[in-house]
Amino acid sequence: MKFNTLTLCFVLLIFSVATVSASDDIGQSVYTKSCAACHASGVMGAPKVGDKDAWSALITEGVDTLTHNSIKGKGKMPAKGGNMKLTDEEVKAAVTYMMEMSK
Ligand code: HEC
Repeated sequence: MKFNTLTLCFVLLIFSVATVSASDDIGQSVYTKSCAACHASGVMGAPKVGDKDAWSALITEGVDTLTHNSIKGKGKMPAKGGNMKLTDEEVKAAVTYMMEMSK
């Protein structure tokens, strides 16, 4: 009985750690596949990831506003970066990743 409880705690711990790193991985892989083409180099005036000046004002707008703009598209930025197969959650993960990399 004691062993079972301990095992359960251990499994839950591993699971929660794995969940956190999985969402980071999703953000990074979505960014690499669907966003980096423009945002790694700043094509067409896209805010370049890692450019703190370009992102400081955007970061103050918050992840929800930036995710909304990324889903709908803004200026020359196509909706969902042109990859309509992405879910809203995947776009949000990518936006979160881009913000983290640009602080
Ligand atoms: C075809 C090039 C291109 C791709 C691909 C692209 N972007 Fe953009 N992105 C832009 C451009 C250009 C802007 C600047 C838009 C403007 O302010 O007029 C922009 C702006 C943004 C902004 C700032 C929005 C704001 O509120 O000012 C975010 C956040 C963003 N992109 C996220 C993403 C994400 C996430 C992806 C991948 C799913 C992505 N972009 C893919 C070109 C691109």
